[in-house]
Amino acid sequence: MKLAEVRRWARGQGIGAARVRRTYEAALLHVTSRVVQAIYRESGLLLPMPARLLPFRRLEVTALPAGVRTVPSLLATLRRSLKGTEYGRRFPALRHDIENSVANVVLNRLLGPKARSLEPAYQGHQYWPFPALRVGPSLEQVLACSHLTRKPVVLPLVEVDDCRLISARFGSHTAFQRAWSGLKGEALIPVHPWQLELSPVVRELLKTGSVRLSSHKVEMIPLASQRTCRILATGYDVKLPVDATLTGEHRLLYRLNLENAPLVSALAEELLRESGLRTLAFQPDVASVFHRQFGSHLGAIVRPPLKPRAGERLVPAINLWTGPHEGRALLRRVPVEKFFTRYCRALMEGPVAFYTEWGMAFEPHLQNVYVGLRDSLPTRIMLRDLDNSIIDPRRVRGRLRALGNPAKDTWRHMPPYPDGGRRMVQAMLYGHLGEVIWRLSEDHGADTGRLMAIVDHTWNELRAFGVQQLRGWSNSVKTTLRTRLRRATALRFVER
Ligand SMILES: Nc1ncnc2c1ncn2[C@@H]1O[C@H](COP(=O)(O)OP(=O)(O)O)[C@@H](O)[C@H]1O
Ligand SMILES: [Mg+2]
Repeated sequence: MKLAEVRRWARGQGIGAARVRRTYEAALLHVTSRVVQAIYRESGLLLPMPARLLPFRRLEVTALPAGVRTVPSLLATLRRSLKGTEYGRRFPALRHDIENSVANVVLNRLLGPKARSLEPAYQGHQYWPFPALRVGPSLEQVLACSHLTRKPVVLPLVEVDDCRLISARFGSHTAFQRAWSGLKGEALIPVHPWQLELSPVVRELLKTGSVRLSSHKVEMIPLASQRTCRILATGYDVKLPVDATLTGEHRLLYRLNLENAPLVSALAEELLRESGLRTLAFQPDVASVFHRQFGSHLGAIVRPPLKPRAGERLVPAINLWTGPHEGRALLRRVPVEKFFTRYCRALMEGPVAFYTEWGMAFEPHLQNVYVGLRDSLPTRIMLRDLDNSIIDPRRVRGRLRALGNPAKDTWRHMPPYPDGGRRMVQAMLYGHLGEVIWRLSEDHGADTGRLMAIVDHTWNELRAFGVQQLRGWSNSVKTTLRTRLRRATALRFVER
């Protein structure tokens, strides 16, 4: 998607030139901030721009450098500053993603404020180098289907002869299908609307007739990740493969995730019952369904609707601090520091205890967390996207086997457990609390030092779990920019 296309579309919509210009400048500042932050985080290089340094090695560029008003002028400035560095050597890749990111942030911000969708996180996030990056989908595809689409979207379904269902909860395709889609009859696999056009594999399967588009359809609304969709008739969520790069990663669904998702969720739920933890719950993956041979392009991981407790409200964390900023209304009713103390406790206790005591490392960044509120105060979190959990073979190999058969090569492909810990800490602090602290200081005038003292206090309260090592990774950095520019996939960290 190109900026010129977005501008043409905006003109066609009657959006005034002044608004487009303001949006463009804001997008440019935002993307600059994220790129400068990523370079600083992973290499220590701080480009000469006015910036505020924030906790957890975050930063905000506060104004664009003199003379930078457009993407080409930003690129020229970056090219000069990055000469001779590893980023300078990969400049074509950097330029490509910056151009794409700015176009998508402009589009998101023009669509966002009016979006009435479920998780309209439109500003572009604070923790990836290229906010809102979408490499693959066209402007038309995004307008027809994204987390900012105003009307429900039709989810295509395909009939597949050779499809596999993995589930402990559903004994038959019919029962499974009825539960998630509300439809009777034979096994159907949902396909993300973008995927029909983007995936050469799906296109070929349709062309040769080995899978067929069903006349049945269900309506859905895409959630913040865009590839997970809420089914309106049933409240179920389906996570789908998309042959595109969103934010920073290629979003197919890998065989190991499809095969293991229900088992990993069952493990998490079993351990949770044993742990007796009250601040944590899960939105489990209860089934996966996929094409036996081409599942990574054609399959789904399925989750049931969340169940709030009596008197509880469950809000996606992403809606509290981005998009509709629901946190603002809450904080009119309760004191900021009291709220944040409860928030830290609810967010940190479960993931920390699971890492140190139970052998599972989660990824509690903003988009994976729902917050349970009682009387406007956080009491627990509910985690989603468990399929990517990193688990400790030493502690859970036996238990996992007792629950079912993990996929072939599960342990060979599992990243080292300490990387799970680093990733968990980075998601929880940099990718979550960092954002909350930033909002609380910007919108509510909270003192950053006092909020950081609350984070420290929470670590101290959790010390019974042996948190020393985790705490020491507070400023460990996942090298998302370097990885993306090299088109690599492995999980890597640098210590800072
Ligand atoms: N703060 C945020 N604002 C907007 N979008 C976000 C934010 N955090 C995450 N996302 C979106 O959610 C997706 C990240 O999800 P991730 O948990 O890595 O994968 P998935 O949920 O698709 O398995 C990304 O594509 C990203 O664009
Ligand atoms: Mg997610």
